[in-house]
Amino acid sequence: MSLRVALVALAAIANSVHAQDETSRAPCSQLSALSANDTKFFPADLALSCLRSVPLAKEDDLLQLSGLRTFLEFQSDLDYLADPTVGRIYPGIDLLAGLDKLTSMLEDDIYQNEHDFQMDVFKLFSAAYDGHLSYIPDIVDVFAFGRLQSEDVNDEGIANYFSLISVLTVENDTPDIYAYIDENSLADPGNSDYSPSPVTKINGQDVVAWLNSYAAQNGRSQDPDANYNQVFVNIPKLAYEAAETDHFAVSRFYQGNTTMLTFANESTRDVMTRAQLLSTKTLEGLTDGASFFDRFCNNNLTETILAQANATGTAPLQTTSNITRVPYEPVSTEGVAPPHPAYPSPIVISSDKSVAGYFSDTISDLAILSVPSFSTTSPVEFENVVRQLLATASDNERTKLVIDLRGNGGGTIFLAYDLFRQLFPTEVPYGAGNYRASELHNFTGRVASENIDALSAAYPELVKSGVDGVVLNSFNYREPLTVDNEQFTSWEEFFGPHKTDRGDFTSLNRFNLTDISATTIPILGYADDNTTQPRTFAPKDIVLLHDGTCASTCAIFSELMSSQMSISSIAAGGRPQKAPMQAVGGTKGSQVQGMFILSTIVSAVLAAAPPSSNFSFLSQFGTDILTATNQALSRASFGGTLLVKASVNFRNNVRGGDAEQMPLQYVYQAADCRFFYTAQMYADQAAVWDKAYDATWGSMQCVEGSTSHPSSVTGGANITAGPPDTAKNFFGGNASIALGRNLETVWTNGSLEDGGGNGSGNGSTSSGNGTTEGSSDGEGDDKSGSNVLAVPLILTSSLAISVILLFI
Ligand SMILES: *[C@@H]1O[C@H](CO)[C@@H](O)[C@H](O)[C@H]1NC(C)=O
Ligand SMILES: *[C@@H]1O[C@H](CO)[C@@H](O)[C@H](O)[C@H]1NC(C)=O
Ligand SMILES: *[C@@H]1O[C@H](CO)[C@@H](O)[C@H](O)[C@H]1NC(C)=O
Ligand SMILES: *[C@@H]1O[C@H](CO)[C@@H](O)[C@H](O)[C@H]1NC(C)=O
Ligand SMILES: *[C@@H]1O[C@H](CO)[C@@H](O)[C@H](O)[C@H]1NC(C)=O
Ligand SMILES: *[C@@H]1O[C@H](CO)[C@@H](O)[C@H](O)[C@H]1NC(C)=O
Ligand SMILES: *[C@@H]1O[C@H](CO)[C@@H](O)[C@H](O)[C@H]1NC(C)=O
Ligand SMILES: *[C@@H]1O[C@H](CO)[C@@H](O)[C@H](O)[C@H]1NC(C)=O
Ligand SMILES: *[C@@H]1O[C@H](CO)[C@@H](O)[C@H](O)[C@H]1NC(C)=O
Ligand SMILES: *[C@@H]1O[C@H](CO)[C@@H](O)[C@H](O)[C@H]1NC(C)=O
Ligand SMILES: *[C@@H]1O[C@H](CO)[C@@H](O)[C@H](O)[C@H]1NC(C)=O
Ligand SMILES: *[C@@H]1O[C@H](CO)[C@@H](O)[C@H](O)[C@H]1NC(C)=O
Repeated sequence: MSLRVALVALAAIANSVHAQDETSRAPCSQLSALSANDTKFFPADLALSCLRSVPLAKEDDLLQLSGLRTFLEFQSDLDYLADPTVGRIYPGIDLLAGLDKLTSMLEDDIYQNEHDFQMDVFKLFSAAYDGHLSYIPDIVDVFAFGRLQSEDVNDEGIANYFSLISVLTVENDTPDIYAYIDENSLADPGNSDYSPSPVTKINGQDVVAWLNSYAAQNGRSQDPDANYNQVFVNIPKLAYEAAETDHFAVSRFYQGNTTMLTFANESTRDVMTRAQLLSTKTLEGLTDGASFFDRFCNNNLTETILAQANATGTAPLQTTSNITRVPYEPVSTEGVAPPHPAYPSPIVISSDKSVAGYFSDTISDLAILSVPSFSTTSPVEFENVVRQLLATASDNERTKLVIDLRGNGGGTIFLAYDLFRQLFPTEVPYGAGNYRASELHNFTGRVASENIDALSAAYPELVKSGVDGVVLNSFNYREPLTVDNEQFTSWEEFFGPHKTDRGDFTSLNRFNLTDISATTIPILGYADDNTTQPRTFAPKDIVLLHDGTCASTCAIFSELMSSQMSISSIAAGGRPQKAPMQAVGGTKGSQVQGMFILSTIVSAVLAAAPPSSNFSFLSQFGTDILTATNQALSRASFGGTLLVKASVNFRNNVRGGDAEQMPLQYVYQAADCRFFYTAQMYADQAAVWDKAYDATWGSMQCVEGSTSHPSSVTGGANITAGPPDTAKNFFGGNASIALGRNLETVWTNGSLEDGGGNGSGNGSTSSGNGTTEGSSDGEGDDKSGSNVLAVPLILTSSLAISVILLFI
């Protein structure tokens, strides 16, 4: 039957676009000429013109939208997004209605070129403000636009970006905006011959209004304070990633030729913006938009995967077994090399800098566990660093622990479970969640569960003994456990559905940590991880240090710590107002799933289904769902550990005891305290930790109005309290600047809030004028993090390729 397609043989529709009459003056041809000399930067306006000269591929684009509709069936909170509950701060977004609108606009020939259409697709997905829900079309991933100090590039090939910082000074009780290059003079005024001046305007508009607008367009966090922070330099991220990633420095979208900053001393500065090639392919030889499309778009995914397998081999992850678990024993406190000049010497640090332990020089009982990421190629080493820090702290009478999660966008789910267990070796982590109980999930899981032997025989790499259930996860009821950690007895018992006022969901379920620990990441005390260690710190002696970035695996960890152990949290930065701020500002969904992996599973299940299976319900997704989903995949940008930069939030995290089973994305939870950065805190991370200590156990000084919100741990952890009014404060930007709102020029939807004045210099139309919007910051980027099951998923095809997907 037609649905029995080979596993990875993804149809690439023949390109039907060929523009004529392009001359050598065509923008893409000009870029080609410029690229001949190994140029790193291109004129921003020329890059945009080239992108906008790519002809529309209308018929294929219609098919792509149909494929995306199928994938959205797996988005866990699709129905909440369309009609959000009180905990959501950004406007809701009806994604299916958005696809309908884009479809009708294509049919009505509204789009003039391929770039503008794909940009609107990108913005539609981005309007969910869910870092796990990501779809980055190929054409949107060819260039990034950087703000630069100069066109110089350092030895590592990293550009000389122009960045901003948000700094509290003695002159003001909320922070001001400064150029990062002024940071040294601010932190050390005695050694500077001038006194830096704050930025007051950007492109002639009030700086805070402009930045709030810009943050909402470029950010992908669910919380506006988190997106605001991501406009500025983030030292923990910088130390971990070794490259600037703040959204003022780098944006995925056209930024104009220059950005004009006005300072309080009335001087101005024009910051240059340049296009940078993100793709590994060259621009050389392009003649026009059609040749651009042929090179950069609609690639044959099979071939790309083959090339990738060739390039990386089949085992990118260091297997966990090659590193030995260390015992709970102290190490020398002498210290090793710091990960970055703004850090002191760590006691222990992993080779990839994802985790490190420090002792404060100034506070004798303070230890710090710094975790800028849960994404690592060496999970056992990560776990060892944690264990050694705990043992060394115990041995040296360090009785207070700051866990620094700033900049942590997530990583491997089960590292969060192990970290929790190392801190509380006798506590059973809760971590229950559910999935959207769609008909497609019902079909896929039922057929998979009923035919697990056939599936296993046909696709041994997909269904492997020991890891089968983890690969298939929610599609095989035998693997997940009930909320009471027992087996489900049937597909019906697992699937439900359980009705809520926002749609149908599966039964709450938990991971079988014994199975996970045996087959993937060792978790303390499960399976053969028989390491023993005492509890080092009491809950009251631990505080979580956040900056809003925390997402996915980091959110899972924070939830275990705050709701299960009542551990308080403290947040740094955010919008300049005296108000509470959320600690966890990124996605609180508990599992990302790549669209490619979903498609692989659905294909395999269809192929393994007995001939008597009734597939007729699939026709609602179009004549052949695999043709459509393959088109959507082949238009996604290739790369990252999900293979293509396309994913959904697959699993909701649900708090223990919540009868409403509200996905945590819709539960507002303020940090227990908040503080703003001083210049000293940018220069020296020890100053940040000392502040976190002082605010928790010392003077307890926090930003006025930031403490005791009912939703916070100390305020009572009221799950229905909802955000304070200040959470929606956009300083003149307001909801009109949110991505969903930006789409409105091409897509009007009643669910969007009616915004007032637009404080932004860059929020105009989406399909015209070429403005700033959206950002990738998503799951496709290797180090951005998120939580996926850390399981080798070996995909095979008739071509006998195997690609091992491990984690983000
Ligand atoms: C994609 O590439 C594979 C491997 O080279 C090839 O077998 C297949 O025919 C290609 N598909 C299309 C539609 O060109
Ligand atoms: C490339 O470099 C050569 C030699 O430096 C120079 O003559 C030429 O103008 C450059 N071409 C472009 C397009 O910059
Ligand atoms: C004004 O302030 C900016 C930012 O600190 C600084 O770069 C510039 O040199 C100052 N200009 C004058 C005339 O002081
Ligand atoms: C951008 O710079 C180009 C020259 O590189 C110029 O032709 C164009 O007018 C500029 N556009 C704007 C909006 O300033
Ligand atoms: C992969 O490598 C093999 C052997 O080196 C080569 O023949 C083949 O063309 C490569 N395939 C791709 C897609 O690069
Ligand atoms: C295990 O690690 C050692 C170094 O620690 C390395 O030499 C060896 O190749 C690794 N083995 C595997 C199978 O990765
Ligand atoms: C799930 O599928 C089964 C078999 O097709 C069907 O009987 C059942 O009604 C479905 N449940 C839902 C909620 O769609
Ligand atoms: C969890 O997985 C382990 C290992 O596969 C298995 O032995 C055990 O029975 C499972 N637990 C439950 C409650 O099913
Ligand atoms: C712990 O497990 C290892 C195998 O993983 C085994 O060699 C060792 O004997 C076990 N230790 C204890 C105390 O059970
Ligand atoms: C197949 O399922 C559809 C509904 O999904 C139903 O209308 C149809 O009668 C079924 N056909 C058979 C042969 O069971
Ligand atoms: C939680 O907050 C809601 C909304 O403010 C309020 O109605 C409810 O009484 C509070 N619940 C508790 C237990 O404080
Ligand atoms: C965008 O372009 C349209 C026409 O192409 C024009 O009407 C509109 O004023 C422009 N908007 C801005 C902000 O330049």
